[in-house]
Amino acid sequence: MLAQTSFTGVKVTAKATSTRRSARTVAVRANKYADELLETAQNMTKPGKGILAMDESNPTCGGRLEALGIENTEENRRRYRELLITTKGLGEYVGGAILFEETLYQSCKDGTTFVDALRAQGIYPGIKVDKGLRPLANSNGESWCQGLDGLAERAAEYYKQGARFCKWRTVVSIPAGPSKMAVTDAAYGLARYAAICQNAGLVPIVEPEILLDGDHDIDRNFEVASMVWAETFKYLADNGVMFDRMLLKPSMVAPGADCPKKSNAKEVAAYTLKMLNDRVPPSTAGIMFLSGGLSELDSTMYLNAMNQQPNPWHVSFSYARALQNTVLKTYATGPEDPAVIAKAQEILLTRARENSEAQRGVFDVTKSSTDGASQYVSGYVY
Ligand code: 13P
Repeated sequence: MLAQTSFTGVKVTAKATSTRRSARTVAVRANKYADELLETAQNMTKPGKGILAMDESNPTCGGRLEALGIENTEENRRRYRELLITTKGLGEYVGGAILFEETLYQSCKDGTTFVDALRAQGIYPGIKVDKGLRPLANSNGESWCQGLDGLAERAAEYYKQGARFCKWRTVVSIPAGPSKMAVTDAAYGLARYAAICQNAGLVPIVEPEILLDGDHDIDRNFEVASMVWAETFKYLADNGVMFDRMLLKPSMVAPGADCPKKSNAKEVAAYTLKMLNDRVPPSTAGIMFLSGGLSELDSTMYLNAMNQQPNPWHVSFSYARALQNTVLKTYATGPEDPAVIAKAQEILLTRARENSEAQRGVFDVTKSSTDGASQYVSGYVY
């Protein structure tokens, strides 16, 4: 038997080597959903398609409604989300909608389930599966994300209900660290989540949001993002996660909200693409950015600038605030008025179309429907 030296320096025999399987090979062979996962990921990342993130937790969605004078009740959250889901033509620009658990089980006023209403437009229903952030003990105010306990069982239920993709959002704070402990915990949690959900037939969105909070410059963001994605891909690989059947949800590499030196679209696109090129395998199905407090206009312009340069991925959007902000403000001016609802839906469709154009690198800023008003909220909780 041939003796070889493995990369760890340990002598192994040829026999032992040949019977060893990579975690990924095992994952593809054992996963009964492998074909469906690939089909879902590919359909969600067709040219011009992005994701509508509408999975704000009840306190966040309700808080935004309350700030505009609408009471935070289950019915009011349902009514607002029905407006989003039933926007005619949305499926042309949006391949998936991420829902909060409550929303996955809700229906339109006419009795059509939200899941069926989305499917009728060719939009995949998705589900936020993390259970939110908690303080990370012995850190300088950093967080960790909970939700792994019982996740396999929950994911199976969400699949039965019609979900076909999912999201786990954890955060990394630059001003609070980031400590090695926080980054490792974030990366490991994302990888375990992604492996569990692929085994339940859900395409995972992997989202370590690097928060906009802070006065750091763009170089510091680049350094942290590079570290976070290196760590995340290490654990994704260790856990046998199939890259062509998952989606990334990164923050764009930009200066902190309080940095005196602002960047333009060209600079953000160059830094972000460099970071992705250095860290992300080309087989990854899609890069679906969050807006993270950027203005509606900036998030579209930055995406457009990235797609005007060659890159190996489907680089697109998975925005909540940058798609919904003006929609929500408009809706709040007359939530009972069909004309107001129609106006709000028209705005959503326009914002989705503009970002779809940005996905194809053909957004014309001179025809923009929106302005550069900041959406940034310090310490935003999703
Ligand atoms: P924003 O686009 O508002 O950052 O939200 C996207 C999201 O889904 C965060 O998890």
